[in-house]
Amino acid sequence: TKRKLWGGRFTGTTDPIMHAYNESLSYDKRMWAQDIRGSQAYARALVGCGILTEQERDEIVAGLEAVGKEWASGSFRAEPDDEDIHTANERRLKELIGAVAGKLHTGRSRNDQVATDMRLWLIDEAHTLETLLTELIAVMVKRARAEVGALMPGYTHLQRAQPIRWSHLLLSHASYLSADLARLRALHPRISVLPLGSGPLAGNPFSPDRVALARDLGFQSVGPNSMYNVSDRDFVAETLMWASLTAVHLSKIAEDFIIYSTAEFGFLTLSDAYSTGSSIMPQKKNPDSLELLRGKSGRIFGQMAGFMMTLKGIPSTYNKDLQEDKEPLFDAVDTIGRSLQIATGVISTMTINEEKMRAALTPDMLATDLAEYLVRKGIPFRETHHISGSAVRLSEEKGVPLSKLSLEELKSLSPAFEQDAERVWIFEESVERRDAIGGTSKRAVLEQCDTLEKALSS
Ligand code: ARG
Repeated sequence: TKRKLWGGRFTGTTDPIMHAYNESLSYDKRMWAQDIRGSQAYARALVGCGILTEQERDEIVAGLEAVGKEWASGSFRAEPDDEDIHTANERRLKELIGAVAGKLHTGRSRNDQVATDMRLWLIDEAHTLETLLTELIAVMVKRARAEVGALMPGYTHLQRAQPIRWSHLLLSHASYLSADLARLRALHPRISVLPLGSGPLAGNPFSPDRVALARDLGFQSVGPNSMYNVSDRDFVAETLMWASLTAVHLSKIAEDFIIYSTAEFGFLTLSDAYSTGSSIMPQKKNPDSLELLRGKSGRIFGQMAGFMMTLKGIPSTYNKDLQEDKEPLFDAVDTIGRSLQIATGVISTMTINEEKMRAALTPDMLATDLAEYLVRKGIPFRETHHISGSAVRLSEEKGVPLSKLSLEELKSLSPAFEQDAERVWIFEESVERRDAIGGTSKRAVLEQCDTLEKALSS
């Protein structure tokens, strides 16, 4: 007769709706490999405790290996009574190797077990996310190098502000992502903490060597307090926060590029691979990839906020609320991973229209440069700002572009204007003057490429 692993003190059966409400196997089965690994390591530790003989250990480790093979090949059959990945694997182990399987859970609780599985799972996933983020930044830097000659308007308040290199804009986004990469890497030491060997809350009475366990499973450190170890999910919260902030940055990229790909701007064209058509308007090519990047950020943020709400009311140690850590984490990790790949795909395949970018540059965007011209002639900036402002007003009165004011007209505003003032209107030179570290000159932009690239490999 079937019974739940915890069935000893229970006489009634579980309400079927309660079973469905309570079960987590449908989603935590994706941690099957981590659950097997954790149990194999624990079996090895139990030898040192005198709980398992070496032969029993070998039977259990091999049995777990066989259970893992079933998962890997898709032949694992869940039973209706399986509650989660931990009970399912142990149930199957017992079917395969018999009563000795019942020794595996000695001193262990699903509380330290699930926390261990989650951390092992996240260590692997974080590594994948790091690779995806690295690829995205690398693609952006590569583009920035290749297209360093393209000039475009830089905007503040979405109003034309100053000429910049297109690459400079691209690298501004890459700089956000580079900080995300650093934050992701910095999470590792707090994810890589071993909970196993904590029992349900008070500790493990059979004294497993937790340092050896940590080494066996590849954890960087040993969880310091059994009550904390079974209930700490800050690593989940931090990952969700990291994903949220990274998603904000992808959303910002998406928003910029959606605007730049409109006919009104025409700076960018998305490749067909990342666009979709309209079911009614034959001419349409919509930037759905970018819109989803922007939209998914809200979803990720929601997972983060929802999980924070779950965490905030829980008393000490394990409470079943904590089972609600999985779906938000899995979903956020999946979503941000796909978003990173889509962003990489979009950015590596879109094309830019350099002529349109350059045509959007207007002389009034050089009003600041005009003021700076006078600064170089020794006039205090506050005065030059005023003089340049008068030049803008004069050009508007005359109905001519700022750059078309005659030298005489400029001289009427300040005697410091000379023939060389005409060079102010060369966009290329404006951009090249901004050569301090982090500026938009060619040298400064290529230097940013080097800096970002270096950060990828560190
Ligand atoms: N499925 C549970 C979870 O994901 C495992 C831990 C269950 N522990 C317990 N004491 N009921 O959190």
